Amino acid sequence: MAKVKYVRLACYHEYQPEQMKQRAASFRRDMQRRRSVRTFSSRPIAREVIEDCLLTAGSAPSGANMQPWFFVVVSDPAVKLQIREAAEKEEYKFYHEQAPAEWLDAVSGLGTDYQKPFLEAAPYLIVIFAQRYGVSTDGRKAKHYYVRDSVGIATGMLIAAIHNAGLAALPYTPSRMGFLNRILGRPENEWPSLVLVVGYPAEGAMVPEIGKKTLDETTTFI
Ligand SMILES: Cc1cc2nc3c(=O)[nH]c(=O)nc-3n(C[C@H](O)[C@H](O)[C@H](O)COP(=O)(O)O)c2cc1C
Repeated sequence: MAKVKYVRLACYHEYQPEQMKQRAASFRRDMQRRRSVRTFSSRPIAREVIEDCLLTAGSAPSGANMQPWFFVVVSDPAVKLQIREAAEKEEYKFYHEQAPAEWLDAVSGLGTDYQKPFLEAAPYLIVIFAQRYGVSTDGRKAKHYYVRDSVGIATGMLIAAIHNAGLAALPYTPSRMGFLNRILGRPENEWPSLVLVVGYPAEGAMVPEIGKKTLDETTTFI
């Protein structure tokens, strides 16, 4: 087994109890302003901002530090169009032939249908792939652990980073996603996990009025 070298935890920062309370409450208030947006402006965004948000996501904890994620950032209009067309083809079939009544009921309040214009309108689509296993340069397979959990955590951190930068995002999961490997040329050890649509909200963007569970509904302290 490889020997692990330890370094001092120099990056940890302790806050005074009062400051800690303020920071926790301030972050909570800021995150509670986050909403998924489905209409985007095409206003450009500096690539540097997206890179910083991706580095935040990449700092996420992961099973055995395998970091089993890969991000494809799409801004090329021709590729965005290809993704939209392929997604809408799948979504049309899903909405018209396959969707269970319960699912249609669950999303009825969100005003979504098979059309996905945001895939072309937003300046960036970040397609997140989950690597079922790693492949080293000499072609050997590396086992990855807790892949879905790890990618989910990195995705959450990415969404928080994008919100923190003052942008909006929509996590979008096409009903079938195999087309993403084909269009983006990703290998078969990578599963498409989610498309994160990123941009400024469109002028006058509307969002469904929804609620969030209370602390009592989600938590118990023992
Ligand atoms: C894993 C995941 C998949 C989602 N897939 C879709 C989707 O395919 N289409 C969509 O319009 N919204 C999708 N959403 C967004 C949810 O509908 C949204 O987060 C939820 O309604 C709560 O709204 P909020 O994000 O504004 O709090 C997804 C969210 C998550 C976390």
